[in-house]
Amino acid sequence: LLAATAAVSFALAGPALADDCQDGEIVIKFSHVVAGSGHPKGDAATLLAKRINEEMNGKACMQVFPNSQLFDDDKVMEALLLGDVQLAAPSLSKFEAYTLKFRLFDLPFLFQDLEAVDRFTASDAGKDLLNSMTDVGYLGLGYWNSGLKQFSANKPLLLPTDAKGLKFRIQTSDVAEAMIAAMGANAQKLAFKEVYGALQTGVVDGQENSWSNIYTQKFFEVQDGITETNHQVLAYLLVTSDEWLNSLEPDVREQFLKITEEVTAAANAEVANMEAQNRQRILDAGSTIRELNADQRKAWMDAMKPVWERFEGDIGKELIDAAVAANN
Ligand code: LMR
Repeated sequence: LLAATAAVSFALAGPALADDCQDGEIVIKFSHVVAGSGHPKGDAATLLAKRINEEMNGKACMQVFPNSQLFDDDKVMEALLLGDVQLAAPSLSKFEAYTLKFRLFDLPFLFQDLEAVDRFTASDAGKDLLNSMTDVGYLGLGYWNSGLKQFSANKPLLLPTDAKGLKFRIQTSDVAEAMIAAMGANAQKLAFKEVYGALQTGVVDGQENSWSNIYTQKFFEVQDGITETNHQVLAYLLVTSDEWLNSLEPDVREQFLKITEEVTAAANAEVANMEAQNRQRILDAGSTIRELNADQRKAWMDAMKPVWERFEGDIGKELIDAAVAANN
């Protein structure tokens, strides 16, 4: 009886999700910062967990921790190396401490649409980049797209000059910082979970993000409106620790990688649709979306062009050319 009581109280005290894992299963913890559903990354993580838990039952067990509840994007990179989590998917803007190559993806107006992003990430140049951090212990398992980014602020933005003097929250990216400077505005790097509060209290005036993040984080509620600039891609690197992956038995690793690859393809195929839905939900909630005419769009592109020259050395001209070629 004593033993039974102890077992019950342990089960009650343990983390809710741990109940799903059985003794002997490899536990795969995946921590991310966005909404758990109704978001390209949240849904992709859920699908990955579902498939692993069904198809690898008895061998592996995956638990997902959304909404920064476990780690933010800086801490999750350390956690991967410490073995506290096994998977993460920070945006490509957040790897500057480990490689400068991903600065490529932050170049403003690099990709004309999500299909161009898909073409580039499927190319040899794109695939090579998955291995650009093995020297520091990380391996990219694939790219998870999330949409193109839009600007919002506490006043209408139709031209880059409208942003003059405003303060924008950015991710931890020097390219984003240079882009905001090119608009005559100021940038502040903030963790994702702090953005809503910072917009609400006026610590920052504006931000840039995908439709899905603007909707699921309710940024639109505390902004004047959103300008459909489509100025940058938001995409994630599904990343793991090299050491952890290599510690798996070959057949387990192979099955895990196969599921990962299939989920990546399935999730990416849904992104454009989900982004359109979340854009519509923002309109339905009564917010304003401002579209740019050709002249206005050209003004944004012209203003940001100097950013390319500044970072060409870090990224490499060949890589930039390969990405540009994916637009055709
Ligand atoms: C951000 O910090 O704005 C994004 O990287 C969040 C995310 O993961 O989409």
